[in-house]
Amino acid sequence: MLNPAPATIEPRAVETEFHGEVALVALNRPDQLNAINEEIRLLLPQVLEELEHDDAVRVILLHGGTARGFCAGADIKEIRAAETALQVRERNMRRAWIDGFDRVTKPVIAAVHGHCLGGGMEMALACDIRIASPDAVFALPETGLGLIPGAGGTQRLHRLVGQGRALDLLLTGDRIDAAEAHRIGLVTRLAADRQSLLDEALALAQRIAGRAPLATAYVKEAARAAGDLTLAAGQALERNLFALLSTTADKAEAARAFKEKRKPVFGGK
Ligand code: CAA
Repeated sequence: MLNPAPATIEPRAVETEFHGEVALVALNRPDQLNAINEEIRLLLPQVLEELEHDDAVRVILLHGGTARGFCAGADIKEIRAAETALQVRERNMRRAWIDGFDRVTKPVIAAVHGHCLGGGMEMALACDIRIASPDAVFALPETGLGLIPGAGGTQRLHRLVGQGRALDLLLTGDRIDAAEAHRIGLVTRLAADRQSLLDEALALAQRIAGRAPLATAYVKEAARAAGDLTLAAGQALERNLFALLSTTADKAEAARAFKEKRKPVFGGK
């Protein structure tokens, strides 16, 4: 008897592949410039949570896959006709998909090419490090659509670039190119060109993945908290995390490796 035809595997809107200890997460709606639809809102937090619990993964790298850009924002075709404010608020609370980024203790890098607009820019803002190719374009155009950013943009942008620049971008919806984004600190690294973006981002991710995983998670925790805590509270958190790390096997391994003039091998313990 003939084997039944294999079931067609539908491409998912978020795809993951692994390069050693780095998980590459690609947005995968190339025909729609990776516009954020319900599937992405559902899948992305799930994927991030799976990777958070996967001990083989040390760094997550989010990118725009084969699309012409990183992400053109919320899927405007899914924006509904007028609902009550209560309905919108409840739906947003339920899906708070962007919060998935805040639950990840591992470093998350965004590799941005082409359009990075609206919700796409908010996604990049929710990552820890942003690297862009020279063709990247950033904007928060929401007020032109009768909306405001709904995935943290009004809160995260000013923490990165200061309130003046954030308000300028939010109020005008103006697009800025990669060089300007780099100048104002919205991205911290520029790739040489579009072709090398993913390789450069992967090399960066691999370098971070080679460092002590617990120390990496704790330094991320402390640095992310810095925007919300008083200096005294932040320093108290830092002292506690430092003390915890002082007891780890990786700290002892680093000191041993230094004495033995070799590279440390970190086990994340
Ligand atoms: N939502 C849905 N589909 C989108 C989209 C979006 N945000 N952006 C692009 N697309 C689709 C286009 O409709 C088009 O699909 P079809 O071929 O089926 O018509 C395809 O992607 C390619 O787009 P274009 O033909 O428009 O490509 P372009 O190179 O001429 O222009 C662009 C690119 C400048 C990004 C333009 O598509 C554009 O302006 N897109 C909308 C950008 C935007 O306003 N984003 C913010 C949305 S609001 C938000 O994100 C926040 C929120 O919470 C509401």
